[in-house]
Amino acid sequence: MPATATPATARLLPGAPVAEAVLAETAASVAALRERGVTPSLATILVGDDDASAGYIRIKQRQAADLGFASPHEHLPATATQDDLHRAIDRFNADPAVHGLLVQYPVPGHLDYDAALQTIDPDKDVDGMHPLNMGRLAVGLPGPLPCTPAGIEALLAYHEIPVSGREVVILGRGATLGRPLAMLLAQKRPTANAAVTVVHTGVPDWDRYTRRADILVAAAGVPGIVRPEHVRPGAVVVGAGVRYAGRRLLPDVDEACAEVAGAITPRVGGVGPTTVAMLFRNAVRAAERASGIRA
Ligand SMILES: NC(=O)c1ccc[n+]([C@@H]2O[C@H](COP(=O)([O-])OP(=O)(O)OC[C@H]3O[C@@H](n4cnc5c(N)ncnc54)[C@H](OP(=O)(O)O)[C@@H]3O)[C@@H](O)[C@H]2O)c1
Repeated sequence: MPATATPATARLLPGAPVAEAVLAETAASVAALRERGVTPSLATILVGDDDASAGYIRIKQRQAADLGFASPHEHLPATATQDDLHRAIDRFNADPAVHGLLVQYPVPGHLDYDAALQTIDPDKDVDGMHPLNMGRLAVGLPGPLPCTPAGIEALLAYHEIPVSGREVVILGRGATLGRPLAMLLAQKRPTANAAVTVVHTGVPDWDRYTRRADILVAAAGVPGIVRPEHVRPGAVVVGAGVRYAGRRLLPDVDEACAEVAGAITPRVGGVGPTTVAMLFRNAVRAAERASGIRA
């Protein structure tokens, strides 16, 4: 009788140890700043009463306290106007004791999040999403990096996945993920330095590219779009795109990809934890820049 073939199982690339390493480094930087009399401060603004958003803010405040950050907070009512939001941002922008600032996403439907983002002082933009910071990334100037792309670079480096000189294919060119990740991984640096290709709806035969990728990053936000036949056997698969159905998380990467890939991020606990860690790295670096100890 022929032996039953056991499906190969990819090595898992969890995000938690990466996040822990980044947070440990951040805590050491916070301690060094405090020794010089600087308390790094990450301010948050929440608009409205969405339970999930309030929960995310609490998690960030707890993490901030654990790391030794001050975390001033402004909670605006759901009825706040765009002007109210901009005034709250301006107050934190003008406060020299505040080094980082984030507005919790999403904001109530009558408010324009992108317009608010553009009023944040770019040097305090811990999400790294201000257009000026996207420009800094494009030309290689120092500044806060977009958190999820930076988290993916850190995740690959931590798990010793070689990136330099290899072919990375990113499915998705969105402003928060695919586009900045492509810029980041093409930079001249040992943990980047890749040949990067970006595919999207304008490339209907995108699997022609993904099937030859050494590293495939799913960044589309289309549940199950990446299936085993889209993955080169032995390739590294990073699942960053997700959609939520209520509280249920629906990843871009079909579970069966683990039977083809050589290494893969877990369905839960992959890229997500690294994103949060990068927020704090950006915040402490903003404090270092404001204090003149980092360029
Ligand atoms: N894990 C995390 O911490 C984290 C953080 C941020 C974002 N995300 C997730 O990452 C995903 C992308 O975010 P984003 O803001 O960049 O999204 P986005 O702006 O909606 O971009 C999605 C991209 O995917 C492409 N795409 C969608 N359907 C496709 C299809 N059927 N075939 C080929 N390409 C397709 C789109 O192509 P076109 O440009 O041609 O429309 C677009 O470039 C979302 O799921 C988001 O939730 C995760």
